[in-house]
Amino acid sequence: MNNSQLKERFEDFAWEVYVSSPGRINLIGEHTDYNQGFVLPTAIDQKIEFEFRRNGTKDTCHIYSRTYEAFASFDLNQVVPQQASWANYLLGVIDEIQKLGKKFEGFDCIIRSSLPIGAGISSSAALECGFASGINDLFGLGLEKIEIVRLSQAAENNFVGSNCGIMDQYASVMSKKGHLILLDCRSLEAEYIPADFKDCKVLLLNTKVEHNLAEGQYNKRRKECEDAVKTIQKRHPQVKALRDVNVEMLKEFKEPLSSQTFSRAAYVIQENLRVQQAAEAIKSGDLRKFGHLMYQSHHGLQHQYEVSCPELDFLVDYTRSKDFIYGARMMGGGFGGCTINLIESSRIDAFVKEVLPAYEEEFGIKGEAIVVSPSEGTQIQSR
Ligand code: GLA
Repeated sequence: MNNSQLKERFEDFAWEVYVSSPGRINLIGEHTDYNQGFVLPTAIDQKIEFEFRRNGTKDTCHIYSRTYEAFASFDLNQVVPQQASWANYLLGVIDEIQKLGKKFEGFDCIIRSSLPIGAGISSSAALECGFASGINDLFGLGLEKIEIVRLSQAAENNFVGSNCGIMDQYASVMSKKGHLILLDCRSLEAEYIPADFKDCKVLLLNTKVEHNLAEGQYNKRRKECEDAVKTIQKRHPQVKALRDVNVEMLKEFKEPLSSQTFSRAAYVIQENLRVQQAAEAIKSGDLRKFGHLMYQSHHGLQHQYEVSCPELDFLVDYTRSKDFIYGARMMGGGFGGCTINLIESSRIDAFVKEVLPAYEEEFGIKGEAIVVSPSEGTQIQSR
């Protein structure tokens, strides 16, 4: 089918299933998920929307991305990587659903997104989870939400090649409006904490530096953490992940570990503690304390874990002299994307008018400000 035939196919599209699949923020707890530690994310009001309908064929799927004004067609019997990288997230999902032994038939799907791509707010998890949820509903496959989370993560690990943890997919699917999720990434036990930010709001500042080139660095950090665990296990066989290591224990390994691996591990251990403290601070309404922990988190990401970049550091440093900003840090995998700021609502407009021109003058890049609020996870309608 050529492009104009495909275009025609998607005119007057009567959907059977509609899915709204949100991006996420993470208040604190970066690079802790794949160390079986703790994170504090929630979904946001920016999302990817999907419309699905069965197309009456056994095995042909046509996808129309309004975001890219592009089409992709798949044969369900030949799920192999394609050139368009966005299509590979979808193929990965199909592959994982098929691996679970679930059978389904041909369908058409329209995708449109209000999520900035490569900004560290998990457009990829939103794409995977929304697509998986839609297929599940359209064909009544009976997959539980948690299975959607896991298979979407597996799609990214196995098909796209990014060794990501589970935080993004979990937050996109499982979030509750107005709440943060204190997630134990080992047991997947979740505590929903009311996101009571009093007079403050969450402001994202997008560096517009795309972080996708950093995939290699991400996988490298993950490997460094695993190497640290292997060394520590020799003396402490009960240690399964950095989650099981405390500061005292790590000190014993100053020698065998390289100073770099030692710093990486130290960061993860400290960040896990900060997540617990942050959750307590939010519960008790101590937002200043929470903000302080955000700055500490950024310091660790910049100097110990080394996943920040000059653009992120500039935006965080810019907030330090502003007492109406309680805390700021880089968010997500790093090397670009957004900073997350807890800022008094009444000061947002004036601050944005000041910080974005200063950022542009420094780097020649037009940044972007996005105010976000904790929102519901995946939502599905059928008719
Ligand atoms: C990316 C990954 C997550 C997590 C963060 C860092 O967003 O997809 O699994 O590791 O980076 O906290």
